[in-house]
Amino acid sequence: MARVFSGIKPTGDMHLGNYLGAVRRWVDSQPAPATPEARQHEAIFCVVDLHAITMPWDPAELTESTLRLATMLMAAGLEEDRSLLFVQSHVRAHAELTWLLNCVASFGELRRMTQFKDKSAKQGDGEVESLTVGFFDYPVLMVSDILLYDTAEVPVGDDQRQHVELARDVAIRFNSRFGDTFVVPKAVFPPIGARVMDLQRPDAKMSKSEDSPQGTILVLDDPKAIERKIKSAVTDSGSEIRHDRDEKPGVSNLIEIYGAVTGASIADVEKEFDGKQYGVFKVAVADAVVEFLRPVQARYAQLAADPGEVERRLAVGADAATALADPVLARATRAAGLLPRRSA
Ligand code: TRP
Repeated sequence: MARVFSGIKPTGDMHLGNYLGAVRRWVDSQPAPATPEARQHEAIFCVVDLHAITMPWDPAELTESTLRLATMLMAAGLEEDRSLLFVQSHVRAHAELTWLLNCVASFGELRRMTQFKDKSAKQGDGEVESLTVGFFDYPVLMVSDILLYDTAEVPVGDDQRQHVELARDVAIRFNSRFGDTFVVPKAVFPPIGARVMDLQRPDAKMSKSEDSPQGTILVLDDPKAIERKIKSAVTDSGSEIRHDRDEKPGVSNLIEIYGAVTGASIADVEKEFDGKQYGVFKVAVADAVVEFLRPVQARYAQLAADPGEVERRLAVGADAATALADPVLARATRAAGLLPRRSA
């Protein structure tokens, strides 16, 4: 099996869109349980806290959200004997390789990255000046994440495609300048399970709860909140429960959510609610989402009550990741001609 690496940023609380879009796929992609000795680390997942600090941040919040996200990923079903989970800053090789690759990636390449262009276009001239160097350099950190683990495949959404392309370009350039060092990765785009849209603005992806508290269902929302948000979801004129993203974006979103959490196809959902009213449908969607999240919430509560256990698992993950990353970093520094440090 090809080694897979993916990262997720600890910013904001996890919502149904993240969960159904990315996290559930990670969970399902884990190979069958192996004994710890036989573990191949074919699926590696990283809470990328160093990426979270490329925009202004609050230290206490960062600590909290890093632990919360790790706990959430464990609650969602990342298992110790099936995949590797760790926190990026716990493995120093990420920052070190970033420096080396900063000296291989070019200024022009980074300036052309869509995320950077978008951000700088949105801000006024003065504000661009205050974007951090880290924000500009973010893609090289991501390249390092990927290359450090001899990653073959990076499952990403469309918005990250360009960064994986950069990883390929940098790996190929490094290899041709300094000899075969890095595995050249490729992006894979797993079929989208569900594209969950904001309940209040069904033309926009469900995103941060700060931006749209009523439109965003958090994985840890209690049943009452879930019900309230779904009941007040924007629907469309007419009364048919029919999937049509252009004509009926609100209802279509609810149909997709219902399908994703129950496993039903869109056609099944349309059939089930044929001739029913929006109100009845919304109650069914809310119930289904509550039931779907219940076991995750229960496991989260259990783990959150025992942060020592979460931290222990992260420590084991960091050790295992270090053992994989250090030899790759050593390969790269040696190839680049940095003088090897001998033991004293
Ligand atoms: N940049 C990615 C995002 O914003 C997160 C990320 C960081 C990542 N390092 C990665 C994803 C390595 C895949 C592989 O979503």
